[in-house]
Amino acid sequence: MQRAALLAVAMFLFSSCSPQRTVGTVGSDSRIEHSVDSLLRLMTLEEKIGQMNQISVGGDVESYAEHIRAGRIGSILNETDPVKVNRYQKMAVEESRLHIPILVGRDVIHGFHTIFPIPLGLASTFDTELAEKTARAAAEEASATGVKWTFSPMCDLARDSRWGRIAESSGEDPLLDAQMAVALVRGYQTDDPSAPDAIAACVKHFFGYGAAEGGRDYNSTYIPERQMRNFFLPPFKAGIDAGVLTVMTSFNDNDGVPSTGNSHLLKDILRKEWGFDGMVVSDWNSTLEMVNHGFAANGEDAARLAANAGCEMDMMSFTYISSLKRLVNDGKVKESDIDAAVRDILRVKYRLGLFKRPYVDTTRTKGAFYKKETLALAEKAAEESAVLLKNDGALPLDASKISRILVTGPMADSPYDQLGTWAFDGEKGHTVTPLAALKERYGDRLQITYFPALKNSRDDNKAGIAQATALARQCDAVLAFLGEEAILSGEAHCLADISLKGGQSSLLEALKKSGKPVVASIMAGRALCIGKDLENCDAMLYSFHPGTMGGPAIAKLIFGEAVPSGKLPVTFTNASGEVWYYNRTNSGRPATGNEILLKDIPENAGQTSLGNTSFYIDSSTKPLFPFGFGLSYAKFSYDGIKLASDVVTQKDSIKVIAYVRNESGPDAEEVVQVYIRDVVGSITRPLKELKAFKRVLIPAGQTAEVCFAIPVSDLAFCGLDMKKKVEPGDFELWVAGDSDSGKPVTFKVSE
Ligand code: BGC
Repeated sequence: MQRAALLAVAMFLFSSCSPQRTVGTVGSDSRIEHSVDSLLRLMTLEEKIGQMNQISVGGDVESYAEHIRAGRIGSILNETDPVKVNRYQKMAVEESRLHIPILVGRDVIHGFHTIFPIPLGLASTFDTELAEKTARAAAEEASATGVKWTFSPMCDLARDSRWGRIAESSGEDPLLDAQMAVALVRGYQTDDPSAPDAIAACVKHFFGYGAAEGGRDYNSTYIPERQMRNFFLPPFKAGIDAGVLTVMTSFNDNDGVPSTGNSHLLKDILRKEWGFDGMVVSDWNSTLEMVNHGFAANGEDAARLAANAGCEMDMMSFTYISSLKRLVNDGKVKESDIDAAVRDILRVKYRLGLFKRPYVDTTRTKGAFYKKETLALAEKAAEESAVLLKNDGALPLDASKISRILVTGPMADSPYDQLGTWAFDGEKGHTVTPLAALKERYGDRLQITYFPALKNSRDDNKAGIAQATALARQCDAVLAFLGEEAILSGEAHCLADISLKGGQSSLLEALKKSGKPVVASIMAGRALCIGKDLENCDAMLYSFHPGTMGGPAIAKLIFGEAVPSGKLPVTFTNASGEVWYYNRTNSGRPATGNEILLKDIPENAGQTSLGNTSFYIDSSTKPLFPFGFGLSYAKFSYDGIKLASDVVTQKDSIKVIAYVRNESGPDAEEVVQVYIRDVVGSITRPLKELKAFKRVLIPAGQTAEVCFAIPVSDLAFCGLDMKKKVEPGDFELWVAGDSDSGKPVTFKVSE
């Protein structure tokens, strides 16, 4: 904690007479507005700036007393001890001049103590109701310690698995991302954010952060306005429309402008266009980092740029507390802008009920974590999030037909690692690994041999591989648990090579040689390049880091007590150097599939003999797995689509019925997906865009009629004139189990 910075004092007080920014009316409450205004009138400039200062605490609680009593701290993060939280609140509410409670924040990203699948895994459920429930449960646990604000959901569209934070995203699709964001906001905040067990959500990182050049965290982005509006902003907008109370800026500069200093983003779009009336917080030190960007000359300049752009709370750069007063006195920041910021901050505190109920009831804390129903929810989420990528018939295993299995691989019994990134409060002692679950559920019937072969997912020492293969030969089936340790993904944990690390691929290859059925179960923070590994197993179940209850979920899926139903929220590439996403444009020279790859070309072949289309000559004309892909133990067939009308007006809905049959296998859930292509536009249009999806249970042998009504207005986009509208013309529509299947029907949108 930089005491010197906190203690900085300004010399003059300057009142600006410029007009106040008009706040939006989203959910505005006149009593709250009245209270905010009355309080604001009592505040000194120092106290106002104090509200705009957020610090991370640790160590001796009393060392912060002087600053809190003086009103220099508006929010703290990273305190989860309810007794300490109450002590901080007491300093603020009973020992300070204006009694303004503190807002306590924490990164509750995919659960608090009970950890749910990482957001990428949660997205692969395509189950927004379930996602909402996970956020609800996380808020119940977190609020029991006095945490009133989480920095979730992350709404960054992510198309590049090298980027470590793809783990925290909902993947590459704006609709899925938006629906997940809405579900999480609802789950955290509920209809009444002032309820004791509700917490404020935060859509982040506004904006573009997931498009970091080269997949390297914090890197610059180059997203033009039209792309921004058509792809990157919709999830944020959806979060705002769902009533999210806070927004966090991003670290990156887009087209040269760091988000924390981007007034077009924070004022023109967020406030004026969208009417947001919650508050905007910087990312950790992102204000001061505008100096590194070469956008601000020094800390004071950074504070000026951020405050003027509309960034209202400074997370951990101390530039506001040390320079805002001087900047106001020098006329470089208007006091009316400070007032607008503080109004937004206070409004959030009122909406959260903090003025009425600043203290956490510590009797709630006991028994708040790992409740039976929360663990059951975590198990269900892990079950639904697992994606079956390959099955040559090895799965599900039948416990009555086999007697001995080999459990191997570095992720079989690695409780910390299966929690994934941002699991600050998750505990390995409460985590159930696949090994533990297999023993518990099937240990009475099966002989389970455990031999990890590799110490961890990076272990290059192949000494244990021969023994693993020898053990495999003595068993009826092999379960190889591979993937990534938690440390391999997350913030600043980007990879240039996204294949399985260490000796894992060699282990799988050796196991396959045993001649026994090999099931690969992957737990990872991203879409790994597992093309060659697929050849070395008979079945592959891909779980993104599944959380506390990953073990039982995976064990049940492997033995058919549950049926895989997850779908990929992100395209899987063949090689680390590839970039594919399903909603790309076609280009003038799309691959036809008839191209010749480098491996098949004779020596001295002519320059153009491979084909002149858009593909990777040393890899493929297609990605490894398309967005939306995922197998089941049931076999689904899509038996036709009925469109209510093949001509619709701008005011209509596109009404579709799809007939999906569960041809064989168990009763199972399928995520039925609707994709639409706008054939010709004023700008080039995506090959396909997901416009709706439904998770439906289809009993064995039955056909489900799955109905959709998609408003034609959902086809709107920003075209050449930058106005968001539907362009009349021809469209194609698919209903399928992934983004690369099915035959389209056509329809027209009339003028
Ligand atoms: C991350 C944010 C996070 C914040 C607070 C930053 O490094 O980018 O997503 O909420 O830290 O922990």
